[in-house]
Amino acid sequence: MRLYHVRWALAMAMAWVSSEATTYSPVKPPSYPLAVRSPYLSAWIPGNHIASLPTSNSQFWAGNDLTWSVIARVDGVAYNLFGVAKAPDGTKSASVTGATYTSTHSTFTLEAGSRKFTLDFFSPVSPKNYVRQSLPFSYLTVTVSAGDSSVVQIYSDIDDSWTGQSSNSRWSSSTKGSTSLFQIQAVGAATYSQNHDGQALWGSAIYATRPSGGSSLSTASGPSASVRKHFVDKGSLDGKHPDWSSGGVVGFVHDLGTTSKKASVTFAVGHEREKSIDFLGTDQTGYYRSKFPETADAVSHFLDDYTDANDESTRLDKLIQDLGTSTYGTNYSDILALSVRQVYGGIEVTIPNESKDTSKTSAFIKEISSDGNINTVDVIYATFPIFYILSPDYLKLLLRPVFEYMRLDDYTKTYAVHELGANYPNATGHPADGEEMPIEESGNIIILAYAYEKATGNKDLTNTYAAQLEQYANYLHQHGLYPASQLSLNDALGTLANQTNLGVKAAVGLATYGALTGQKNYTTAGKQFADRIWTDHLGTDDHGTRFLIQYNTKPWFLVFNHYPDVLFDLNVFPKETYNATAKFYPTVRGLAGVALHGSLGWGQTNWQAFVAATVDGNAREVFISDIHAYIANGQNSAPFSDRYWVEAKNGHIVGQSYAFRARPTLGSHFALAALKGANLWSS
Ligand SMILES: *[C@@H]1O[C@H](CO)[C@@H](O)[C@H](O)[C@H]1NC(C)=O
Ligand SMILES: *[C@@H]1O[C@H](CO)[C@@H](O)[C@H](O)[C@H]1NC(C)=O
Ligand SMILES: *[C@@H]1O[C@H](CO)[C@@H](O)[C@H](O)[C@H]1NC(C)=O
Ligand SMILES: *[C@@H]1O[C@H](CO)[C@@H](O)[C@H](O)[C@H]1NC(C)=O
Ligand SMILES: *[C@@H]1O[C@H](CO)[C@@H](O)[C@H](O)[C@H]1NC(C)=O
Ligand SMILES: *[C@@H]1O[C@H](CO)[C@@H](O)[C@H](O)[C@H]1NC(C)=O
Repeated sequence: MRLYHVRWALAMAMAWVSSEATTYSPVKPPSYPLAVRSPYLSAWIPGNHIASLPTSNSQFWAGNDLTWSVIARVDGVAYNLFGVAKAPDGTKSASVTGATYTSTHSTFTLEAGSRKFTLDFFSPVSPKNYVRQSLPFSYLTVTVSAGDSSVVQIYSDIDDSWTGQSSNSRWSSSTKGSTSLFQIQAVGAATYSQNHDGQALWGSAIYATRPSGGSSLSTASGPSASVRKHFVDKGSLDGKHPDWSSGGVVGFVHDLGTTSKKASVTFAVGHEREKSIDFLGTDQTGYYRSKFPETADAVSHFLDDYTDANDESTRLDKLIQDLGTSTYGTNYSDILALSVRQVYGGIEVTIPNESKDTSKTSAFIKEISSDGNINTVDVIYATFPIFYILSPDYLKLLLRPVFEYMRLDDYTKTYAVHELGANYPNATGHPADGEEMPIEESGNIIILAYAYEKATGNKDLTNTYAAQLEQYANYLHQHGLYPASQLSLNDALGTLANQTNLGVKAAVGLATYGALTGQKNYTTAGKQFADRIWTDHLGTDDHGTRFLIQYNTKPWFLVFNHYPDVLFDLNVFPKETYNATAKFYPTVRGLAGVALHGSLGWGQTNWQAFVAATVDGNAREVFISDIHAYIANGQNSAPFSDRYWVEAKNGHIVGQSYAFRARPTLGSHFALAALKGANLWSS
């Protein structure tokens, strides 16, 4: 785990106080996704910086600045709209009037002279269309609304901060049909290597656009000050493209001429890598390359696809909104909408580069910010409720590489592996000194395979890997009731023996295997574990009012591993378990939420959301409204951190996030919604 505390403390200290003129709906989140499509295309802006949007930089998920600006001229006066940290002479700041987010869009409105502008940052989420989902680009649409007749020109640029190596890059400019395209690349870095902020050092940053709304397009690259000054003075660019120089920008201008009408121009920002993932020595590439093997074609298609992608996003936003509100009100839909891009932006859908064989489609997920592991099985577990609802096939795409790896002679363990490699994008195998979570991951593999089968009705995954699933079920049976000293997925707790939550995972994993295979003896074995843990008080206090962290050991623990018992309707734990925990958790609610266990000051939104699905009444309300209060409290700036302080301990501030950020694990927030049904999205 790497910490970003110092940089973050500084950013917080410098954050602007939001002006009263800006309205935020549905809430002002810690950070708005701007272009969040892959672990390497992950641009955000803190909610607390929106009031000063014209001068505030976007940031990579790690918090390092990205240069990405928009300036508009109205009747010869230049207004900075976004990301112009150093305002050119003679320019003004537009005033920010509103900010909204949906599942797929972050939208900001500004006033600039006599005209209003909208910046719509749109990162498509296309749960079942792998071409659309895998295109490593995101849209920025700048709209000038109808108003007094005026001359309007719109400028935008990016720079080498998007390559991860501002000290040594190169750039190129090209056209494809009407599309104009810039690429910026780090020079001399190894394929598959990252900088210390986790940015890819191979591949290219992309900025592209094409004339629209009657605009005429001009371009230039060069030192930021001179390119921007040229626009501010002239309302166009000079078409010059000198060699790259550090901090130089690549810019576009759309000249809309004299107009009183509403008009929009769209830019595509991106980061593409032809070799995207090393999966056991086979180079993977983005799924989109099965259709568009050339970058320029892919970008051009992405711009062609805008209307269809936008139509899909309208439907998806509505589904999430309706699902959230019908499940548990607008507090819940606010949480879900903020989570969607972060989940899918932590995943890539790939095919082998050489063959481009789409029958070998895989997906890879990055443990962003916590350690960079690839296809961590418990990260897939935390995320799975969103897949269960929107794209159950992702469970197969993510798990198949894991099963394939575990089939190799190299993998000799009798239990399931923790992950496919320590450092995304190198899915080159679990290192000898890597984390081992025997019970947790063996249970997870069975639960996830069953979730896929239950949601899709397809037995392909479970048939292909039947022998492995059986092996892990038997492992749970032999080792699961009294787990030896080992890590659980909450690895911050260290190795502990007899962890109640692991015993619960074993019980539920066995019963899931029983449901999967129809072998009742596994279901019975799971119930026997559950009876020992709950009814016989092995994992509870003497009166059976709460779960404990370890057998016979205080403190209490927020046990979340019985969630699949509820989701799959397995009846492993007696109803009384759920009644008792529903009664208990509100009694240990900290100032900002329920902690992970009784002697910790922090809680995790993932597991709060899992437990919210297993309790009802007041307990459910406590969990959902605490998560909502946390995202709306104005105290945070990192991309949604799933871990935060619920109590003031050791100088930490209640309601502030704790180290994690931008993790795709927010799929967990859909746990309650998943009780309404599986596979609800049709593309
Ligand atoms: C992935 O492996 C390559 C080749 O060994 C190496 O150069 C690169 O730094 C690794 N990437 C990460 C993120 O560790
Ligand atoms: C990807 O595969 C194609 C063949 O399909 C090959 O021409 C190309 O060189 C490969 N790309 C890389 C970066 O190896
Ligand atoms: C686990 O708990 C059982 C029952 O309380 C006990 O017999 C056993 O020694 C414990 N195991 C460890 C490793 O502490
Ligand atoms: C369940 O029954 C099958 C078939 O008899 C047997 O192979 C398996 O070991 C049993 N498993 C358990 C957990 O009892
Ligand atoms: C659980 O709580 C419900 C509602 O309070 C009650 O009707 C039910 O009898 C309880 N069930 C058990 C097994 O305690
Ligand atoms: C919604 O969340 C807020 C905290 O942001 C809380 O004060 C409010 O009570 C919640 N509303 C409902 C209906 O639970």
